Amino acid sequence: MNVIKVKDQVAGGQAAFKLIKQAIEAGAQVLGLATGSSPETLYQEMVNSDLDFSNMLAFNLDEYVGLAADNEQSYHYFMQEHLFKFKPFKATYIENGLAKDLEAEVERYEQLLQAHTIDVQILGIGVNGHIGFNEPGTSFDSLTHVTNLTESTIQANKRFFNDISEVPTKALTMGIKSILQSKQIILLAYGKAKAPIIKRLLSGEVTEEVPASALQKHPNVTIIIDEEAASLL
Ligand code: GLP
Repeated sequence: MNVIKVKDQVAGGQAAFKLIKQAIEAGAQVLGLATGSSPETLYQEMVNSDLDFSNMLAFNLDEYVGLAADNEQSYHYFMQEHLFKFKPFKATYIENGLAKDLEAEVERYEQLLQAHTIDVQILGIGVNGHIGFNEPGTSFDSLTHVTNLTESTIQANKRFFNDISEVPTKALTMGIKSILQSKQIILLAYGKAKAPIIKRLLSGEVTEEVPASALQKHPNVTIIIDEEAASLL
């Protein structure tokens, strides 16, 4: 795995943007996108750039179950507000967290993914090592699925909600195997809280207890971290 250490999250966004720009210049047509605070500066760079995404497709990693697209905490809303309303894509795909039949929805989404190889996948990482919403214990062979969020993830994400009782307990997420099918992966992590998991990711064993450790098996991964996230290396 390549590691790029940067001063702060702004520099991280610039470094990630540079990689995406190179990939697009080399022919990339399908981006895999993520939500959370980590990709925000990257999306800012994309918005401020003169790059045209209108011939590209975007697939998002995950979505909460039970939140409508216009709910401010939904990942649909996040993507709209941070990127899509400024930079139109040919088509954007995110799992439908309101689908009546969730199993049919994950099947539909996985089929879309199988029909379009993701050229560059952006990832954040949870403090427990989750990528997308693949929590510890998720099979490395997992495809898109419905998942129960762990207490640690609910606690970490409650800052976005008025009350912890409003944090959804289930989500739809691309699986580890779906993520590893991307040609190139860029993982972004900033801040002290991420330092232990970054250390574990880079030097620990590959185990389903640390979902992100699956990335060690992928041939083209770049980890972009700031000084705080790198502080235990
Ligand atoms: C959520 C998302 C993940 C994201 C993680 C970290 O749980 N499902 O995709 O990587 O949070 O978020 P942040 O970047 O805000 O630390």
